[in-house]
Amino acid sequence: MALLGTKFMGRAHSNAWGAAPKFFDLPMTTSLEVVAGRDIAQTHAFAKRWGWRQATAEWRDAIEDPMVSLVDVATPNHVHREQSIAALEAGRSVACEKPLAGTLVHAREMATAARKVKKCRTFVWFNYRRCPAVALAHQLVREGKLGRIFHVRASYLQDWGGPATPLLWRFQASKAGSGAHGDLNAHIIDMARFITGLEFQEVVGAIEETFVKEREILDAAARAPAISAGGAKRSPGKLGRSNVDDAVLFLARFRGGAIGSFEATRLATGNKNRNAIEVNGEHGSIAFDFERMNELRWWDNTLPQRLRGWSTINCTESVHPYAGNYWPSAHLIGYEHGFTSMAADIVRVLGGESPLVPLPDFDDALQTQAVLEAALVAARKRVPVRIKDVLR
Ligand SMILES: NC(=O)c1ccc[n+]([C@@H]2O[C@H](COP(=O)([O-])OP(=O)(O)OC[C@H]3O[C@@H](n4cnc5c(N)ncnc54)[C@H](O)[C@@H]3O)[C@@H](O)[C@H]2O)c1
Repeated sequence: MALLGTKFMGRAHSNAWGAAPKFFDLPMTTSLEVVAGRDIAQTHAFAKRWGWRQATAEWRDAIEDPMVSLVDVATPNHVHREQSIAALEAGRSVACEKPLAGTLVHAREMATAARKVKKCRTFVWFNYRRCPAVALAHQLVREGKLGRIFHVRASYLQDWGGPATPLLWRFQASKAGSGAHGDLNAHIIDMARFITGLEFQEVVGAIEETFVKEREILDAAARAPAISAGGAKRSPGKLGRSNVDDAVLFLARFRGGAIGSFEATRLATGNKNRNAIEVNGEHGSIAFDFERMNELRWWDNTLPQRLRGWSTINCTESVHPYAGNYWPSAHLIGYEHGFTSMAADIVRVLGGESPLVPLPDFDDALQTQAVLEAALVAARKRVPVRIKDVLR
């Protein structure tokens, strides 16, 4: 395989590709053939550290390497389309980071390209599906344990996006598409669809807010951090406009009658990576919070009334999805395991087997992208927006 991108996700994916064959029995062997980054010296160092055979500064060379059959796209959102479509046209399967693209237009082009190349498979790194607790929630809903679903209540709260954070690509619409919305709401929209099996019908209303309108331009910030090593503040460098949201909240209806609320923000002070979802059904409820990622909270409404209460399932038993591939009971797993389990399922699919729980492909991720788009239109025009209208 080839990897494009060498920073946060480049590291997470490299770790996962390396670990997957150690923890899972896979139908085929994998080889970390070539990694592409922008700085060749850094990319060589990355390749050596993470076990890639070759390094290149030309991502097209990586795609065209005859040894490569799967291209892993771990670059910023605005490059997903060009790199994924080039890989598909070269006959490679593609595992692309989320959101599928910065915009619905790009996402649609990617899904169309994927449909044309029948022999290639596509995957999108919605890694939270493979937390054992989230996969268990998905299984419980499919088994009918929640019955009819009434509510989905999801929020993804972070707090790193204050005024001191410089103008990273994540704050530039031309690169990211949107801010907290595409970054964080994409995950909880996908989790809601995955856990409940319900599709969104309409975004009824939304709020989009950019609290920090100007941020320090990165070159200046990179040369001199805002707080010096001694703790003294220095005067900020040149400022540039942040033209993405810092927070987006929206309300939605699902097909079949359930309703949902969604919130994504980078300014929820004190919340570091609080990716949380609660689903309330007729026969029970489930609740998940990534900050306690090994646990699934469960309310069984079919119990006699005097026994009803929230219970906390430690999802580390071998009967829980993926957990048995790692350690004995109550030996907790972490962030990286979601990626490792996803890498294993990708290899299973490429080897002709089925994933343990469904893997999102470009078509699936296009549905999530349509909900993102509907929420932005609803916020900007102050109107309800049907998903079928944005997908038209
Ligand atoms: N699944 C998750 O939970 C998760 C978490 C973080 C990021 N992401 C997604 O992963 C992707 C990458 O994010 P990241 O946090 O790793 O970003 P990053 O800034 O840490 O790394 C981006 C990498 O892409 C390279 N790059 C940038 N522009 C490029 C270009 N034009 N051509 C080739 N390479 C280029 C950079 O050199 C760097 O190696 C984004 O789509 C992001 O939304 C997903």
